[in-house]
Amino acid sequence: PAPGWTTDTDVVVIGSGIAGLVAALRCRSRGRVLLVTKALLDAGSTRWAQGGIAAALAPDDSPEEHLADTLTAGVGLCDVDAVRALVTEGPDAVRDLIGLGAAFDRSNGGEIALTREGGHHRRRIAHAGGDATGAEISRALLAALKDSGVEVIEHALVLDLLKDGAGRAAGITLHVMGEGQPCGVGAVRARAVVLATGGLGQVFSATTNPEVSTGDGVALALRAGAEVADLEFVQFHPTVLWLGEDARGQQPLISEAVRGEGAHIVDHAGERFMLGRHDLAELAPRDVVAKGIMNRMRETGASHMLLEGRHLGAAMWENRFPTILAACRHHGIDPVTEPIPVVPAAHYASGGVRTDLHGRTTVPGLYACGEVACTGVHGANRLASNSLLEGLVFAARIATVLEEDLAAPSLRPPPEPDRDLDGQQMEAGVPVGAGLVGGEARGEIQRIMTSCAGVLRGADGLARAARELDGLGQDARAEPGVEAWEATNLHTVASAIVAAAGRRAETRGSHWREDFPERADGTWRGHLVTRLVGNDL
Ligand code: SIN
Repeated sequence: PAPGWTTDTDVVVIGSGIAGLVAALRCRSRGRVLLVTKALLDAGSTRWAQGGIAAALAPDDSPEEHLADTLTAGVGLCDVDAVRALVTEGPDAVRDLIGLGAAFDRSNGGEIALTREGGHHRRRIAHAGGDATGAEISRALLAALKDSGVEVIEHALVLDLLKDGAGRAAGITLHVMGEGQPCGVGAVRARAVVLATGGLGQVFSATTNPEVSTGDGVALALRAGAEVADLEFVQFHPTVLWLGEDARGQQPLISEAVRGEGAHIVDHAGERFMLGRHDLAELAPRDVVAKGIMNRMRETGASHMLLEGRHLGAAMWENRFPTILAACRHHGIDPVTEPIPVVPAAHYASGGVRTDLHGRTTVPGLYACGEVACTGVHGANRLASNSLLEGLVFAARIATVLEEDLAAPSLRPPPEPDRDLDGQQMEAGVPVGAGLVGGEARGEIQRIMTSCAGVLRGADGLARAARELDGLGQDARAEPGVEAWEATNLHTVASAIVAAAGRRAETRGSHWREDFPERADGTWRGHLVTRLVGNDL
Protein backbone atom coordinates (compact mmCIF):
# COMPACT_ATOMS: atom_id res chain seq x y z
CA PRO A 1 0.00 0.00 0.00
CA ALA A 2 1.08 3.60 -0.67
CA PRO A 3 2.52 5.33 2.42
CA GLY A 4 0.25 7.99 3.93
CA TRP A 5 3.07 9.67 5.86
CA THR A 6 6.86 9.86 5.75
CA THR A 7 9.55 10.60 8.29
CA ASP A 8 13.31 10.42 8.12
CA THR A 9 16.26 9.45 10.27
CA ASP A 10 19.81 8.16 9.88
CA VAL A 11 19.37 4.65 11.23
CA VAL A 12 16.10 2.80 11.63
CA VAL A 13 16.26 -0.23 13.93
CA ILE A 14 13.40 -2.72 13.71
CA GLY A 15 12.80 -4.70 16.90
CA SER A 16 13.25 -4.08 20.61
CA GLY A 17 14.76 -7.27 22.04
CA ILE A 18 18.34 -7.36 23.23
CA ALA A 19 19.74 -6.99 19.69
CA GLY A 20 17.50 -4.09 18.66
CA LEU A 21 18.02 -2.19 21.91
CA VAL A 22 21.81 -2.61 21.85
CA ALA A 23 21.95 -1.66 18.16
CA ALA A 24 19.86 1.46 18.80
CA LEU A 25 21.90 2.52 21.83
CA ARG A 26 25.25 1.92 20.12
CA CYS A 27 24.28 3.51 16.79
CA ARG A 28 22.99 6.64 18.56
CA SER A 29 26.51 8.09 18.70
CA ARG A 30 26.64 7.79 14.89
CA GLY A 31 23.49 9.80 14.13
CA ARG A 32 19.75 9.98 14.61
CA VAL A 33 18.17 6.62 15.46
CA LEU A 34 14.53 5.60 15.22
CA LEU A 35 13.52 2.29 16.80
CA VAL A 36 10.27 0.72 15.61
CA THR A 37 8.73 -2.30 17.28
CA LYS A 38 5.67 -4.38 16.53
CA ALA A 39 3.98 -4.31 19.92
CA LEU A 40 5.12 -2.81 23.23
CA LEU A 41 8.87 -2.34 23.70
CA ASP A 42 9.20 -5.43 25.90
CA ALA A 43 6.87 -7.79 24.01
CA GLY A 44 9.49 -9.79 22.10
CA SER A 45 11.36 -12.98 22.96
CA THR A 46 14.10 -11.40 25.09
CA ARG A 47 11.93 -10.89 28.13
CA TRP A 48 10.92 -14.57 28.03
CA ALA A 49 14.52 -15.81 28.15
CA GLN A 50 14.95 -17.82 31.32
CA GLY A 51 18.23 -19.71 31.60
CA GLY A 52 20.66 -16.90 31.00
CA ILE A 53 23.53 -15.55 28.99
CA ALA A 54 26.64 -17.63 28.33
CA ALA A 55 30.14 -16.13 28.69
CA ALA A 56 33.50 -17.36 29.93
CA LEU A 57 33.38 -15.39 33.19
CA ALA A 58 34.60 -18.03 35.64
CA PRO A 59 38.29 -18.15 36.61
CA ASP A 60 38.50 -21.79 35.50
CA ASP A 61 36.85 -21.10 32.12
CA SER A 62 38.17 -19.59 28.89
CA PRO A 63 36.85 -18.28 25.57
CA GLU A 64 38.64 -21.23 23.93
CA GLU A 65 36.53 -23.70 25.90
CA HIS A 66 33.36 -21.74 25.13
CA LEU A 67 34.41 -21.81 21.47
CA ALA A 68 34.93 -25.57 21.55
CA ASP A 69 31.47 -26.22 23.08
CA THR A 70 29.81 -23.87 20.56
CA LEU A 71 31.49 -25.59 17.61
CA THR A 72 30.55 -29.04 18.88
CA ALA A 73 26.89 -28.04 19.30
CA GLY A 74 26.89 -26.51 15.78
CA VAL A 75 27.86 -29.88 14.23
CA GLY A 76 30.43 -28.67 11.73
CA LEU A 77 28.54 -25.67 10.35
CA CYS A 78 29.66 -22.83 12.63
CA ASP A 79 31.77 -20.03 11.23
CA VAL A 80 34.85 -20.18 13.45
CA ASP A 81 35.68 -16.47 13.05
CA ALA A 82 32.17 -15.50 14.08
CA VAL A 83 32.25 -17.83 17.09
CA ARG A 84 35.66 -16.47 18.07
CA ALA A 85 34.26 -12.92 18.02
CA LEU A 86 31.30 -14.07 20.13
CA VAL A 87 33.28 -15.83 22.83
CA THR A 88 36.18 -13.38 23.10
CA GLU A 89 34.03 -10.23 23.13
CA GLY A 90 31.31 -11.91 25.22
CA PRO A 91 32.72 -11.47 28.73
CA ASP A 92 33.28 -7.72 28.31
CA ALA A 93 29.89 -7.33 26.65
CA VAL A 94 28.26 -8.90 29.73
CA ARG A 95 30.32 -6.62 32.01
CA ASP A 96 29.09 -3.62 29.94
CA LEU A 97 25.55 -4.81 30.49
CA ILE A 98 26.22 -4.91 34.23
CA GLY A 99 27.62 -1.39 33.93
CA LEU A 100 24.31 -0.34 32.41
CA GLY A 101 22.52 -1.66 35.49
CA ALA A 102 21.61 -5.27 34.71
CA ALA A 103 21.64 -7.12 38.04
CA PHE A 104 22.78 -10.71 37.68
CA ASP A 105 22.41 -13.22 40.51
CA ARG A 106 25.47 -13.41 42.78
CA SER A 107 26.97 -16.07 44.99
CA ASN A 108 27.36 -15.46 48.76
CA GLY A 109 30.87 -14.24 48.02
CA GLY A 110 29.55 -11.63 45.56
CA GLU A 111 30.74 -13.36 42.39
CA ILE A 112 28.36 -13.69 39.44
CA ALA A 113 26.55 -17.01 39.97
CA LEU A 114 26.99 -19.31 37.00
CA THR A 115 24.96 -22.36 36.04
CA ARG A 116 25.22 -25.07 33.39
CA GLU A 117 23.00 -25.84 30.43
CA GLY A 118 23.04 -28.36 27.59
CA GLY A 119 26.32 -28.68 25.67
CA HIS A 120 28.40 -26.64 28.13
CA HIS A 121 31.26 -28.42 29.85
CA ARG A 122 31.56 -25.60 32.41
CA ARG A 123 29.33 -23.48 34.60
CA ARG A 124 29.13 -20.53 32.24
CA ILE A 125 25.57 -19.19 32.28
CA ALA A 126 24.93 -15.92 34.12
CA HIS A 127 21.32 -15.50 35.22
CA ALA A 128 19.09 -12.93 36.87
CA GLY A 129 16.02 -13.15 39.09
CA GLY A 130 16.65 -16.89 39.23
CA ASP A 131 15.03 -17.78 35.92
CA ALA A 132 14.03 -14.34 34.59
CA THR A 133 17.29 -13.31 32.92
CA GLY A 134 15.76 -11.83 29.77
CA ALA A 135 13.32 -9.70 31.75
CA GLU A 136 16.17 -8.13 33.75
CA ILE A 137 18.30 -7.49 30.65
CA SER A 138 15.30 -5.97 28.91
CA ARG A 139 14.58 -3.76 31.94
CA ALA A 140 18.15 -2.47 32.09
CA LEU A 141 18.36 -1.74 28.36
CA LEU A 142 14.95 -0.03 28.29
CA ALA A 143 16.03 2.15 31.21
CA ALA A 144 19.14 3.13 29.23
CA LEU A 145 17.00 3.86 26.17
CA LYS A 146 14.93 6.44 28.05
CA ASP A 147 17.54 9.21 28.05
CA SER A 148 19.42 8.10 24.96
CA GLY A 149 17.73 10.30 22.40
CA VAL A 150 16.60 7.27 20.42
CA GLU A 151 13.12 7.90 19.03
CA VAL A 152 10.60 5.08 19.36
CA ILE A 153 7.46 4.00 17.51
CA GLU A 154 5.57 1.10 19.10
CA HIS A 155 2.83 -1.03 17.53
CA ALA A 156 4.52 -0.74 14.16
CA LEU A 157 4.59 -3.72 11.81
CA VAL A 158 7.38 -3.35 9.27
CA LEU A 159 6.22 -4.12 5.73
CA ASP A 160 9.05 -3.79 3.23
CA LEU A 161 12.47 -2.37 2.52
CA LEU A 162 12.82 0.79 0.47
CA LYS A 163 15.81 0.91 -1.86
CA ASP A 164 17.44 3.72 -3.79
CA GLY A 165 18.24 3.59 -7.50
CA ALA A 166 21.57 1.87 -6.78
CA GLY A 167 19.90 -0.95 -4.86
CA ARG A 168 20.96 0.33 -1.46
CA ALA A 169 18.60 0.21 1.53
CA ALA A 170 16.93 3.61 1.87
CA GLY A 171 14.33 2.97 4.58
CA ILE A 172 11.24 0.93 5.26
CA THR A 173 7.50 0.99 4.87
CA LEU A 174 5.54 0.14 7.98
CA HIS A 175 2.05 0.05 9.40
CA VAL A 176 1.46 1.73 12.72
CA MET A 177 -1.53 0.31 14.55
CA GLY A 178 -3.85 2.13 16.90
CA GLU A 179 -4.66 5.72 17.60
CA GLY A 180 -1.35 7.54 17.94
CA GLN A 181 0.34 9.79 15.42
CA PRO A 182 1.63 8.82 12.96
CA CYS A 183 -0.61 5.84 12.23
CA GLY A 184 -1.59 3.71 9.26
CA VAL A 185 0.87 2.88 6.50
CA GLY A 186 3.92 5.15 6.37
CA ALA A 187 7.51 5.30 5.25
CA VAL A 188 10.71 5.90 7.21
CA ARG A 189 13.54 7.14 5.02
CA ALA A 190 16.90 6.15 6.51
CA ARG A 191 20.54 5.76 5.52
CA ALA A 192 20.82 2.41 7.27
CA VAL A 193 18.24 -0.21 8.22
CA VAL A 194 18.93 -2.67 11.06
CA LEU A 195 16.76 -5.78 11.25
CA ALA A 196 16.44 -7.07 14.81
CA THR A 197 12.99 -8.57 14.47
CA GLY A 198 13.70 -11.81 16.36
CA GLY A 199 12.45 -15.26 15.52
CA LEU A 200 9.89 -17.23 13.59
CA GLY A 201 8.59 -19.79 16.09
CA GLN A 202 4.99 -18.91 15.29
CA VAL A 203 5.43 -20.81 12.03
CA PHE A 204 4.74 -23.90 14.19
CA SER A 205 1.67 -24.77 16.28
CA ALA A 206 3.50 -25.02 19.60
CA THR A 207 6.48 -22.81 20.37
CA THR A 208 8.22 -21.06 23.20
CA ASN A 209 8.08 -17.83 21.15
CA PRO A 210 5.58 -15.05 21.82
CA GLU A 211 2.79 -14.15 19.37
CA VAL A 212 4.92 -11.49 17.70
CA SER A 213 7.58 -13.95 16.43
CA THR A 214 6.21 -14.32 12.93
CA GLY A 215 9.44 -14.22 10.92
CA ASP A 216 8.81 -10.68 9.65
CA GLY A 217 12.51 -9.87 9.23
CA VAL A 218 13.38 -12.99 7.24
CA ALA A 219 10.35 -12.47 4.99
CA LEU A 220 11.23 -8.79 4.44
CA ALA A 221 14.84 -9.68 3.68
CA LEU A 222 13.80 -12.33 1.15
CA ARG A 223 11.44 -9.89 -0.59
CA ALA A 224 14.25 -7.31 -0.63
CA GLY A 225 16.55 -9.76 -2.43
CA ALA A 226 18.83 -10.48 0.54
CA GLU A 227 20.25 -13.92 1.11
CA VAL A 228 19.14 -16.04 4.02
CA ALA A 229 20.93 -19.18 5.13
CA ASP A 230 20.55 -22.27 7.33
CA LEU A 231 16.76 -21.93 7.60
CA GLU A 232 16.33 -25.69 7.91
CA PHE A 233 17.93 -25.54 11.35
CA VAL A 234 14.97 -24.69 13.54
CA GLN A 235 15.85 -25.65 17.07
CA PHE A 236 13.27 -27.48 19.18
CA HIS A 237 13.70 -26.91 22.90
CA PRO A 238 13.58 -30.31 24.62
CA THR A 239 11.55 -29.32 27.67
CA VAL A 240 8.40 -27.30 27.28
CA LEU A 241 5.53 -27.89 29.71
CA TRP A 242 3.19 -30.44 28.12
CA LEU A 243 -0.32 -29.01 28.09
CA GLY A 244 -2.03 -31.74 26.09
CA GLU A 245 -2.15 -32.80 22.43
CA ASP A 246 -4.04 -29.71 21.33
CA ALA A 247 -1.80 -27.08 22.90
CA ARG A 248 -1.31 -24.18 20.50
CA GLY A 249 0.72 -20.97 20.49
CA GLN A 250 3.28 -19.91 23.09
CA GLN A 251 4.00 -22.70 25.60
CA PRO A 252 5.69 -22.38 29.03
CA LEU A 253 9.43 -23.10 28.81
CA ILE A 254 11.13 -25.25 31.45
CA SER A 255 14.68 -23.92 31.29
CA GLU A 256 17.64 -26.18 30.69
CA ALA A 257 19.04 -24.60 33.81
CA VAL A 258 16.66 -26.86 35.76
CA ARG A 259 18.63 -29.78 34.36
CA GLY A 260 21.82 -27.77 34.94
CA GLU A 261 20.94 -27.77 38.65
CA GLY A 262 20.34 -31.53 38.67
CA ALA A 263 16.88 -32.43 37.34
CA HIS A 264 16.62 -35.57 35.17
CA ILE A 265 14.52 -36.55 32.20
CA VAL A 266 12.74 -39.88 32.73
CA ASP A 267 10.17 -41.96 30.90
CA HIS A 268 6.91 -43.09 32.46
CA ALA A 269 8.71 -46.08 34.01
CA GLY A 270 11.10 -43.68 35.73
CA GLU A 271 14.10 -44.61 33.56
CA ARG A 272 16.74 -41.94 32.77
CA PHE A 273 16.93 -42.82 29.09
CA MET A 274 19.48 -40.12 28.20
CA LEU A 275 22.13 -41.98 30.20
CA GLY A 276 24.22 -43.92 27.73
CA ARG A 277 23.00 -41.86 24.75
CA HIS A 278 25.55 -39.08 25.31
CA ASP A 279 28.35 -38.51 27.81
CA LEU A 280 26.56 -35.37 29.05
CA ALA A 281 23.24 -37.30 29.39
CA GLU A 282 20.42 -34.75 29.95
CA LEU A 283 22.93 -31.94 29.47
CA ALA A 284 23.86 -33.03 25.96
CA PRO A 285 23.39 -30.38 23.25
CA ARG A 286 19.75 -29.48 22.73
CA ASP A 287 19.23 -31.35 19.47
CA VAL A 288 20.50 -34.57 21.04
CA VAL A 289 18.15 -34.29 24.02
CA ALA A 290 15.13 -33.32 21.85
CA LYS A 291 15.79 -36.35 19.62
CA GLY A 292 16.24 -38.59 22.68
CA ILE A 293 12.86 -37.47 24.03
CA MET A 294 11.10 -37.87 20.66
CA ASN A 295 12.62 -41.33 20.18
CA ARG A 296 11.51 -42.45 23.63
CA MET A 297 8.02 -41.07 22.99
CA ARG A 298 7.86 -43.10 19.77
CA GLU A 299 9.25 -46.24 21.40
CA THR A 300 6.77 -46.12 24.27
CA GLY A 301 3.80 -44.51 22.52
CA ALA A 302 3.77 -41.77 25.17
CA SER A 303 2.57 -38.24 24.42
CA HIS A 304 5.28 -36.69 26.61
CA MET A 305 8.21 -37.45 28.92
CA LEU A 306 8.82 -36.31 32.50
CA LEU A 307 11.28 -33.91 34.07
CA GLU A 308 12.07 -35.21 37.55
CA GLY A 309 13.11 -32.36 39.82
CA ARG A 310 11.54 -33.22 43.17
CA HIS A 311 14.97 -33.87 44.66
CA LEU A 312 15.96 -30.22 44.02
CA GLY A 313 13.81 -29.35 47.02
CA ALA A 314 11.28 -26.58 47.67
CA ALA A 315 13.91 -23.93 48.46
CA MET A 316 15.69 -24.42 45.11
CA TRP A 317 12.41 -24.25 43.22
CA GLU A 318 11.26 -21.16 45.06
CA ASN A 319 14.51 -19.19 44.97
CA ARG A 320 16.16 -20.33 41.78
CA PHE A 321 13.18 -21.04 39.51
CA PRO A 322 10.30 -18.84 40.67
CA THR A 323 8.99 -18.14 37.15
CA ILE A 324 8.91 -21.81 36.17
CA LEU A 325 7.41 -22.83 39.50
CA ALA A 326 4.62 -20.29 39.10
CA ALA A 327 3.94 -21.33 35.48
CA CYS A 328 3.75 -25.01 36.43
CA ARG A 329 1.50 -24.36 39.42
CA HIS A 330 -0.72 -22.18 37.25
CA HIS A 331 -1.26 -25.26 35.09
CA GLY A 332 -1.88 -27.55 38.06
CA ILE A 333 1.59 -29.16 38.28
CA ASP A 334 3.71 -28.80 41.42
CA PRO A 335 7.37 -29.59 40.59
CA VAL A 336 8.17 -29.80 44.32
CA THR A 337 5.91 -32.83 44.68
CA GLU A 338 5.57 -34.32 41.18
CA PRO A 339 7.56 -34.64 37.94
CA ILE A 340 6.83 -32.11 35.18
CA PRO A 341 5.33 -33.42 31.91
CA VAL A 342 7.48 -32.13 29.05
CA VAL A 343 7.73 -32.24 25.23
CA PRO A 344 9.97 -30.51 22.68
CA ALA A 345 8.60 -27.38 20.96
CA ALA A 346 9.89 -24.94 18.33
CA HIS A 347 12.27 -22.55 20.04
CA TYR A 348 14.92 -20.84 17.93
CA ALA A 349 15.91 -20.19 14.32
CA SER A 350 19.62 -20.96 14.08
CA GLY A 351 19.58 -19.62 10.50
CA GLY A 352 18.36 -16.29 9.21
CA VAL A 353 19.45 -13.31 7.16
CA ARG A 354 23.02 -13.93 6.13
CA THR A 355 25.51 -11.39 7.45
CA ASP A 356 29.23 -10.79 7.65
CA LEU A 357 31.00 -10.29 10.97
CA HIS A 358 29.58 -6.77 11.26
CA GLY A 359 25.94 -7.47 10.56
CA ARG A 360 26.06 -6.45 6.91
CA THR A 361 23.61 -8.41 4.79
CA THR A 362 23.97 -8.91 1.05
CA VAL A 363 21.86 -5.77 0.45
CA PRO A 364 24.03 -2.69 1.05
CA GLY A 365 22.73 -0.57 3.90
CA LEU A 366 20.68 -3.43 5.35
CA TYR A 367 22.03 -4.95 8.57
CA ALA A 368 20.76 -7.79 10.73
CA CYS A 369 21.48 -8.89 14.31
CA GLY A 370 20.02 -11.21 16.91
CA GLU A 371 17.82 -14.19 16.07
CA VAL A 372 16.80 -12.82 12.66
CA ALA A 373 20.45 -12.92 11.54
CA CYS A 374 22.60 -15.80 10.45
CA THR A 375 26.01 -14.59 11.63
CA GLY A 376 27.43 -18.09 11.48
CA VAL A 377 27.76 -18.60 15.24
CA HIS A 378 25.09 -21.28 15.59
CA GLY A 379 25.70 -23.64 12.68
CA ALA A 380 23.25 -26.53 12.72
CA ASN A 381 22.26 -26.12 16.36
CA ARG A 382 22.66 -23.17 18.72
CA LEU A 383 24.43 -23.76 22.01
CA ALA A 384 22.23 -22.93 25.00
CA SER A 385 22.31 -19.30 26.16
CA ASN A 386 24.42 -18.14 23.23
CA SER A 387 21.45 -16.25 21.79
CA LEU A 388 21.33 -13.33 24.23
CA LEU A 389 25.11 -13.14 23.91
CA GLU A 390 24.95 -13.07 20.12
CA GLY A 391 22.42 -10.23 20.24
CA LEU A 392 24.66 -8.28 22.58
CA VAL A 393 27.95 -8.79 20.73
CA PHE A 394 26.86 -8.59 17.10
CA ALA A 395 24.46 -5.65 17.52
CA ALA A 396 27.36 -3.68 18.96
CA ARG A 397 29.56 -4.73 16.05
CA ILE A 398 27.19 -3.02 13.58
CA ALA A 399 27.85 0.33 15.25
CA THR A 400 31.61 -0.09 14.77
CA VAL A 401 31.32 -0.07 10.95
CA LEU A 402 28.33 2.20 10.53
CA GLU A 403 30.26 5.45 10.29
CA GLU A 404 32.52 4.09 7.59
CA ASP A 405 29.59 2.54 5.70
CA LEU A 406 27.50 5.72 5.86
CA ALA A 407 30.43 7.80 4.61
CA ALA A 408 30.81 5.56 1.58
CA PRO A 409 27.27 4.90 0.44
CA SER A 410 28.29 3.15 -2.76
CA LEU A 411 27.43 -0.47 -3.44
CA ARG A 412 29.49 -2.67 -1.19
CA PRO A 413 30.30 -6.22 -2.26
CA PRO A 414 28.44 -8.97 -0.40
CA PRO A 415 30.16 -10.93 2.38
CA GLU A 416 33.12 -12.87 1.10
CA PRO A 417 32.14 -16.45 0.34
CA ASP A 418 35.29 -17.92 1.82
CA ARG A 419 34.60 -16.37 5.20
CA ASP A 420 31.21 -17.74 5.91
CA LEU A 421 31.39 -21.12 4.25
CA ASP A 422 33.84 -23.83 4.97
CA GLY A 423 32.00 -26.16 2.66
CA GLN A 424 29.87 -25.81 -0.38
CA GLN A 425 27.25 -23.20 -1.05
CA MET A 426 23.87 -24.08 -2.47
CA GLU A 427 20.86 -22.17 -3.56
CA ALA A 428 17.23 -22.96 -3.00
CA GLY A 429 14.69 -20.80 -4.71
CA VAL A 430 11.53 -20.19 -2.73
CA PRO A 431 8.42 -19.90 -4.85
CA VAL A 432 5.74 -17.81 -3.20
CA GLY A 433 2.27 -16.88 -4.33
CA ALA A 434 1.57 -13.67 -6.14
CA GLY A 435 -0.37 -11.93 -3.41
CA LEU A 436 -1.20 -11.63 0.24
CA VAL A 437 -2.15 -14.70 2.22
CA GLY A 438 -5.30 -14.20 4.31
CA GLY A 439 -5.00 -13.97 8.10
CA GLU A 440 -7.14 -17.10 8.52
CA ALA A 441 -4.30 -19.13 6.92
CA ARG A 442 -2.12 -18.71 10.03
CA GLY A 443 -3.48 -21.82 11.79
CA GLU A 444 -3.27 -23.88 8.62
CA ILE A 445 0.38 -22.87 8.03
CA GLN A 446 1.17 -23.89 11.62
CA ARG A 447 -0.62 -27.23 11.20
CA ILE A 448 1.24 -28.00 7.96
CA MET A 449 4.61 -27.09 9.43
CA THR A 450 4.10 -29.02 12.66
CA SER A 451 2.93 -32.20 10.97
CA CYS A 452 5.33 -32.16 7.99
CA ALA A 453 8.37 -30.02 8.83
CA GLY A 454 8.66 -30.24 12.61
CA VAL A 455 11.20 -31.96 14.77
CA LEU A 456 11.18 -35.09 12.54
CA ARG A 457 11.07 -34.71 8.76
CA GLY A 458 10.97 -36.85 5.62
CA ALA A 459 10.82 -36.33 1.86
CA ASP A 460 7.13 -37.24 1.52
CA GLY A 461 5.98 -34.97 4.31
CA LEU A 462 8.12 -32.08 3.10
CA ALA A 463 6.79 -32.48 -0.46
CA ARG A 464 3.23 -32.48 0.93
CA ALA A 465 4.02 -29.36 2.98
CA ALA A 466 5.38 -27.61 -0.13
CA ARG A 467 2.21 -28.49 -2.10
CA GLU A 468 -0.15 -27.42 0.66
CA LEU A 469 1.71 -24.16 1.28
CA ASP A 470 1.71 -23.48 -2.44
CA GLY A 471 -2.06 -23.99 -2.44
CA LEU A 472 -2.49 -21.45 0.37
CA GLY A 473 -0.39 -18.96 -1.56
CA GLN A 474 -2.69 -19.05 -4.56
CA ASP A 475 -5.39 -16.96 -2.89
CA ALA A 476 -4.46 -13.45 -3.89
CA ARG A 477 -7.75 -11.94 -2.73
CA ALA A 478 -6.84 -11.26 0.90
CA GLU A 479 -7.47 -7.76 2.23
CA PRO A 480 -4.35 -5.89 3.34
CA GLY A 481 -4.13 -5.67 7.12
CA VAL A 482 -1.99 -6.82 10.04
CA GLU A 483 -3.36 -10.39 10.08
CA ALA A 484 -2.79 -10.82 6.35
CA TRP A 485 0.68 -9.26 6.43
CA GLU A 486 1.72 -11.52 9.29
CA ALA A 487 0.22 -14.60 7.64
CA THR A 488 2.03 -13.70 4.42
CA ASN A 489 5.32 -13.46 6.30
CA LEU A 490 4.65 -16.80 8.01
CA HIS A 491 3.83 -18.31 4.62
CA THR A 492 7.01 -16.98 2.99
CA VAL A 493 9.19 -18.19 5.86
CA ALA A 494 7.44 -21.57 6.04
CA SER A 495 7.96 -22.05 2.30
CA ALA A 496 11.64 -21.18 2.67
CA ILE A 497 12.10 -23.60 5.60
CA VAL A 498 10.38 -26.40 3.69
CA ALA A 499 12.48 -25.74 0.55
CA ALA A 500 15.73 -25.87 2.55
CA ALA A 501 14.66 -28.87 4.66
CA GLY A 502 13.68 -30.73 1.52
CA ARG A 503 17.05 -30.07 -0.05
CA ARG A 504 19.25 -31.10 2.87
CA ALA A 505 19.30 -34.90 2.51
CA GLU A 506 21.02 -35.72 5.79
CA THR A 507 20.51 -35.45 9.52
CA ARG A 508 22.57 -32.76 11.20
CA GLY A 509 21.99 -30.78 14.38
CA SER A 510 18.37 -29.73 14.68
CA HIS A 511 17.55 -30.89 11.12
CA TRP A 512 16.40 -34.49 11.56
CA ARG A 513 15.48 -36.49 8.44
CA GLU A 514 14.06 -39.96 9.11
CA ASP A 515 14.80 -40.93 5.49
CA PHE A 516 18.43 -39.73 5.76
CA PRO A 517 19.28 -40.54 9.38
CA GLU A 518 23.06 -40.07 9.10
CA ARG A 519 25.20 -36.97 8.94
CA ALA A 520 26.82 -36.75 5.47
CA ASP A 521 29.92 -34.56 5.78
CA GLY A 522 31.15 -35.43 2.28
CA THR A 523 28.08 -33.91 0.61
CA TRP A 524 26.41 -31.62 3.08
CA ARG A 525 29.04 -29.86 5.17
CA GLY A 526 27.93 -26.53 3.77
CA HIS A 527 25.16 -24.00 3.91
CA LEU A 528 21.94 -23.70 1.96
CA VAL A 529 21.64 -20.12 0.87
CA THR A 530 18.09 -19.15 -0.01
CA ARG A 531 16.96 -16.38 -2.30
CA LEU A 532 13.41 -15.59 -3.30
CA VAL A 533 12.40 -16.36 -6.86
CA GLY A 534 9.20 -15.17 -8.50
CA ASN A 535 8.78 -12.38 -5.98
CA ASP A 536 5.72 -10.37 -6.86
CA LEU A 537 4.84 -9.26 -3.35
C1 SIN B 1 16.56 -22.17 28.50
O1 SIN B 1 16.54 -21.46 29.50
O2 SIN B 1 16.54 -23.40 28.51
C2 SIN B 1 16.64 -21.51 27.16
C3 SIN B 1 17.96 -20.93 26.98
C4 SIN B 1 18.26 -20.76 25.51
O3 SIN B 1 17.39 -20.86 24.67
O4 SIN B 1 19.45 -20.59 25.21
